Amino acid sequence: QPVETFDLVIFGGTGDLALRKLLPALYHRYADGQIPDDSRIIGIAREGLDDEGYRDNLRAVLKKNGNGKVEDFLKLVGYRSLDARKDDGWDDFATLMGKDAERIRVFYLSTSPDLFVDICNRLGKYELNKGKSRVVLEKPIGHDLKSANQINDDVGRFFDESQTFRIDHYLGKETVQNLLALRFGNALFEPLWNAEHIDHVQVTVAETLGVGQRAGYYDHAGALRDMVQNHILQLVCMLAMEPPSSLAPDAVRDEKLKVLRSLKPITEANAAQLTVRGQYRAGSAEGQAVPGYLDELKDHKSNTETFVAVKAEIANWRWAGVPFYLRTGKRLPERVSEITVVFKAVPHSIFDASAGPLAQNRLVLRLQPDEDIKLWLTIKHPGPGGLRLRHVPLDMSFAEAFGVQQPDAYERLLLDVVRGNPTLFMRRDEVEAAWRWADPILAAWADSGEAPRPYTSGTWGPSAAVALIERDGRTWNEDS
Ligand code: BG6
Repeated sequence: QPVETFDLVIFGGTGDLALRKLLPALYHRYADGQIPDDSRIIGIAREGLDDEGYRDNLRAVLKKNGNGKVEDFLKLVGYRSLDARKDDGWDDFATLMGKDAERIRVFYLSTSPDLFVDICNRLGKYELNKGKSRVVLEKPIGHDLKSANQINDDVGRFFDESQTFRIDHYLGKETVQNLLALRFGNALFEPLWNAEHIDHVQVTVAETLGVGQRAGYYDHAGALRDMVQNHILQLVCMLAMEPPSSLAPDAVRDEKLKVLRSLKPITEANAAQLTVRGQYRAGSAEGQAVPGYLDELKDHKSNTETFVAVKAEIANWRWAGVPFYLRTGKRLPERVSEITVVFKAVPHSIFDASAGPLAQNRLVLRLQPDEDIKLWLTIKHPGPGGLRLRHVPLDMSFAEAFGVQQPDAYERLLLDVVRGNPTLFMRRDEVEAAWRWADPILAAWADSGEAPRPYTSGTWGPSAAVALIERDGRTWNEDS
């Protein structure tokens, strides 16, 4: 179904996110016939390009996808060189946008957050925030609770909450949405989805990439702010929330908020037991020798973590006592994002030792590199021999089952903004609750004065991260 005609303006239009993710996502939706030809997509940045120059850049990126519609798509695309802090060009831009309050206008702020207020001020001055206008805020929303509130207040002076779409692209990933279908579309799981039947949950988001060109941003963020405060906590919310009464935006977001508010605080008193920080050193990534973080940064003093593991807990009736082991890092051995739900062992074994060990059931939801759901079950090893047990997965690979490439998260989310559907976007109170949990961890680390533990690029982080889970008699899932 095509969406209504819209204008989408990307501030930070020459940036990595715009060129690598946003514009290709829009192209794919266009090529699928979902974007009407009279829509407009306008890149904005300070660079002195014109429409043609911008299209040339984009053509180079999109050529790889070339299915003949690239030139048609490029007709929708334009560019304006603007500086949020200078007047030049804004009158022309406002004229280009026009005054039609019935037209959907999406302003995507893919810039550093310190420009948000200047951009919103300008949009307000030209009344571009009126009517069917929406603003999309890219993470990070702030650096801590205080700065997040400041950003939300600043933007909130021009765009009310219903116009504000805080994007977390993990919510647009197919597997994450599949969690909704799996949990609430099957009678099988929900009765077991609680502390009585679930032993623990693991979330791993591993990347092989280092920080590369993004060191300037990353060194001020670190893995907890970059990945855990937003993406991983959002996954935890989808996993742990109570069944919402419907998929209405606030029905879902109310339930997610309760999860965030139930996270057990991690403070100075217990941060050393419940968290592990790491920083990569030289090593290898995908067969290539790679430098360490400090060398990339050209600063040998940074205490920024490029790896973090956390043992989190949700203090409510459903989840009391169930650990959620979370870990993420750069320069790990493989790119894999996975949620593992480990069920409790059977209460009593009727099998002889010769049958082999009984393993716990596991549900493994893989987000990346390929989407896949596996339910590990115990069965009898086939054949006439004695009764020997085997642990095998019921496996559903989406690519194999449906024979299609899954759309990128941004494809779904960008069109949800155009449709005005905020279900998969973070509400202000969710962002605040997530910071309320993250801030004391960051403070505890800062107060401890300890440096993150070094790990060699191409390994699974510091050995303390393994100890974090093994202390509890459990191991990180490895056999998906
Ligand atoms: C971004 C982070 O939000 O997510 C990056 O800023 C990270 O550091 C990226 O690499 C991971 O996204 P994905 O979709 O590749 O898992």
